[in-house]
Amino acid sequence: MVSIVPVIAIDGPSGAGKGTVSQLVASRLGWHLLDSGALYRLVVQAAKNHAIALDNIEALETLAAHLDVQFNVVDECTPVQVLLEGEDVTTTIRSEETGNEASRIAAQPGVRAALLERQRAFRAPPGLVADGRDMGTVVFPDAAVKIFLTASAGERARRRYKQLKEKCPNVIFSDLLDEIAERDKRDTERSVAPLRPAGDAVTIDTTELSVEQVVQEVMSVCNQRLGG
Ligand code: DC
Repeated sequence: MVSIVPVIAIDGPSGAGKGTVSQLVASRLGWHLLDSGALYRLVVQAAKNHAIALDNIEALETLAAHLDVQFNVVDECTPVQVLLEGEDVTTTIRSEETGNEASRIAAQPGVRAALLERQRAFRAPPGLVADGRDMGTVVFPDAAVKIFLTASAGERARRRYKQLKEKCPNVIFSDLLDEIAERDKRDTERSVAPLRPAGDAVTIDTTELSVEQVVQEVMSVCNQRLGG
């Protein structure tokens, strides 16, 4: 019998805590981690490095198909180090600007298609925790566990505000809230692989929960579904 490498798909809107939770779950299980949003952000960064306009879709598709990228896991509390063409872009690709641009290019079917097999290649024993928007619906429809993490837009903007305020005192809360609403709308309404829970996903609203509480809930769903 062929044994299939199990996948835990964790989808949801920007700022719902997917990144932190996915990293902790992967680390506790000793599984691999896919941050699929980073790949869309990296296409934007690669385009900037090579002076390619973000409306040059054909060139973006070629970039996406040939991204020279490396993810280095440090520990469960440190963001995964991301190297693009050998250069450390871990912090650069996390900007609001890059996130918004990533959301824009992610609406292009050709860019999504170019990244599909690359995402699937992360599936390796003993298992994969995959974080994104379409992990449970398109990339890994056979995932053993599908989680949809959500939180109110206000709470997601508050979390982002807290993070950014330390580095950038001029950040304006209402601007963040507007950007989150705009990104939700774009990611939810696009025609290919729109953000939505898979039919068999368990939705967890994290508005009132701590990170540890969310991780516990996810682990408990995993234990039920994986029979651990
Ligand atoms: O998760 P993130 O904020 O790093 O993702 C940035 C953008 O990339 C997000 O707004 C939409 C897009 N994205 C996507 O379309 N599909 C994914 N699986 C992951 C991200």
